[in-house]
Order: sequence, then C-alpha cells, then structure tokens
Amino acid sequence: MSSVAEAVRDGVLPGRVWFYANYHCNLACTYCLTESDPRAERRELGEQRMLTLARQAAELGFTALGVTGGEPFLLPYLPELLAKLAAILPLVCLSNGTVLTERRLERLRPLAGLPAQIQVSLDRPEPQANDAMRGPENFRKVVDAIPRLVERGVRVRIATTVDAIDDEERERLCRLHRRLGVPDADHVIRPIVRRGRAVDHDLGVEAGPADLPAELTITTDGAFWSPFGPTVHGGRLDTDLLITRTTMPLRVPAAALLRLVQGRPPGTDAQLNIQ
Ligand SMILES: C[S@@+](CC[C@H](N)C(=O)[O-])C[C@H]1O[C@@H](n2cnc3c(N)ncnc32)[C@H](O)[C@@H]1O
Ligand code: SF4
Repeated sequence: MSSVAEAVRDGVLPGRVWFYANYHCNLACTYCLTESDPRAERRELGEQRMLTLARQAAELGFTALGVTGGEPFLLPYLPELLAKLAAILPLVCLSNGTVLTERRLERLRPLAGLPAQIQVSLDRPEPQANDAMRGPENFRKVVDAIPRLVERGVRVRIATTVDAIDDEERERLCRLHRRLGVPDADHVIRPIVRRGRAVDHDLGVEAGPADLPAELTITTDGAFWSPFGPTVHGGRLDTDLLITRTTMPLRVPAAALLRLVQGRPPGTDAQLNIQ
C-alpha cells in the first residue's frame, strides 16, 4: 500500500484531490475568493492534464476528486470530461448553476449512472438577498436548473456560503432545497472566508491551515494545501498556502503535502466548519 493510501486510510490525509479547472466566470460575486469574472485570467488546467492527474490520484490511493473554478461549465468539454473523471474516482463538481442550458443538461445525463455530484451554489432562500451577492437573476436561474438536474438523475448538492444566517432563514432555505429535490444530507452551509474579493468588502472569517482540511489542490500555477488556498487578490495569486510549483507527476505534490500533514503539531485541529 502506498504512503498516500495509508494516510488516507488512517484519516491523516483527506482522500479528495481538487482541480481548479479555470478561473474565469460569467458572474462576479461580491465575496468571490478567486476574483473571478468574465475578464479574469483563465488559468485553465486543461482536459488532458486533469485526466492524467486523476489516473495518478487513483494509483496513489486518493479516493475522490473535486472540480472547481471559476465556473467550470464555461469550458466546452466539461460534461464529457466529468463522466470520464467519475469513471476513475467519485467526483464532485462545483458550479454556479447559471449556464446549464438544455443542451448541456442533456450532455450531463451519463453522470446519472456514475458516482458524480454537481454542487450548486445557493446562498439565500429569497431572490433579493441571494442576488445581492451573486448578481441579478442568479436565484431564478439556480432554482430553475436544480430540478432539471435532479429529473435527469444527476445527484445535486447545494452549497450555501454566508457571513451569517439565522434559524428562520436557514429553515426557509432548507424547505426550498427539499422542494427542489435536494435532501438535507446534500446541503452544506459554510462561512465566507476572508480571501479574494471578500477582503475588499470586509467580509468573512480569517482561515489558516489549521482551519482548512489539507485537501491536495492542483492549479495551473502549482499545488496548494486546500481549495481555499489558490485565491486571487488584486489580480495576483495568493501563495501563502502553496506547497509546491510541481504538479506532475502527482506523487510530487502528494509527498510534499504528506510531509506537511505528518509534521502538523498536535492541537491544531480545525475550528471552523469549512468544507
Ligand atoms: C469559487 S466557487 C467556484 C464554483 C462556482 N463558480 C460556484 O460559484 O459555485 C466555489 C464555491 O466557493 C464559494 N466561495 C466563493 N468565495 C468564497 C469565499 N470568500 N469564502 C468561502 N466560499 C467562497 C462559492 O460560493 C462556491 O460555492
Ligand atoms: S463564486 Fe463562483 S460564480 Fe461567483 S464569481 Fe466566484 S467563481 Fe464565479
């Protein structure tokens, strides 16, 4: 058994490897940690590189994949790529849920038979509050897209990212996601992290390595400690959570992360519910 497989088995290392597929986006959310928008530098990881890295992840003993961005669904090859990745390891792909046209939804049908989930962002149970952070028409498009994914048999998770939410609003949000066909087990609520655009708007909590699970995260610029690591501020990539510039072969960044995790001093358990 490889040292990664042992570390994953023993709970020392999370099993998921994340890919930052791209950094550009059709939206420009107020708190976006990657400062994504339509003009953002694309930093595209590439279809072939993601497939190669996924195979290497499986060989090393990682147990799951994550695809994030930017908005991954702006990449023309994404639906078919997700099916190929999910045939290698169970997969979650994060999306803002606003570019899921009928044609793209049809191309996602094969995911129904695979261990794949689309995690869609939905922050608030009412359009006005939701769209204040995520942009006009966001709520309408997301609540339209989710049932259309569900009816095609694609498993949907909902991610809610908020500074604060009271019990009543959370209950309204949960009633909404249940109505859309998403069970409680597939809804996650987490805090805004003070990185990227959140810094400029004085939003979010400070989070260091102790608060962020050590999930190996691959970008076109290098490998990072967590998907909350390769953030962008003032147009520049943050490198405080960079672990190595080498991403291929995957055993190089995996070994670097393993050394860091094994050297983590006791008592640095995560304090924040960041997933
Ligand atoms: C960066 S987005 C990429 C995927 C897709 N564009 C989306 O919005 O779902 C991934 C997730 O991170 C969340 N996010 C963005 N900025 C954040 C921040 N400053 N702190 C915590 N989560 C953040 C988004 O709401 C989304 O759920
Ligand atoms: S949070 Fe997601 S949808 Fe919003 S700007 Fe960032 S990448 Fe785009």
